[in-house]
Amino acid sequence: MRNVAVIVGSLREDSINRKIAGVLAELAPRTLALEILEIGDLPLCNQDDDWRPNAATVAFRAGVKAAEAVLFVTPEYNRSIPSPLKNALDVGSRPAGQSVWAGKAGAVVSASPSPLGAFGANQHLRQSLAALDVRTLAQPDMFLGRADKMFDARGQLIDESSRLLMRLFLHSFEDWIELIAAR
Ligand SMILES: Cc1cc2nc3c(=O)[nH]c(=O)nc-3n(C[C@H](O)[C@H](O)[C@H](O)COP(=O)(O)O)c2cc1C
Repeated sequence: MRNVAVIVGSLREDSINRKIAGVLAELAPRTLALEILEIGDLPLCNQDDDWRPNAATVAFRAGVKAAEAVLFVTPEYNRSIPSPLKNALDVGSRPAGQSVWAGKAGAVVSASPSPLGAFGANQHLRQSLAALDVRTLAQPDMFLGRADKMFDARGQLIDESSRLLMRLFLHSFEDWIELIAAR
């Protein structure tokens, strides 16, 4: 069983991306255990805190370290990634030389009510992940546009084509994690 830390880029209670993360966890193949690793309590990254991390930072870094892989599910804010997500990347990258990200298998899902599916956030996230040495799945990429229409009022996924896409994506990610683990 491979543990996958799921990092949701939105802190919003009714977040579409959080719902998508939940669906991905349900649809995941039996070899993968997907669990959300929360980022909302992390302090703003301050280099002065490198060697005096608070409890939330210690727990977050340990959560990433313990995971075999990381899956990012994020909206787009102003054509880039939301600041809490960038903050989590930065917090996990410190102190220098002790980043918890290096060598992890990774994948990105982005979603937006806009038809562009948070393309800008997806691409900006990949730029940081490359710098952090996260081995990020290139294809299939996953931009979910008009994602507000994917769920009914009870929060259930009603878009069957997206469900199928998510299954295919998860199987590719499963293969990718095995490939990275074998290296
Ligand atoms: C600060 C801010 C900036 C936003 N900028 C974008 C944007 O650049 N592109 C986009 O598609 N949606 C943008 N949105 C709208 C979000 O896609 C929308 O609120 C979405 O529901 C957020 O994802 P969530 O439901 O997972 O919280 C923005 C929302 C906020 C709050």
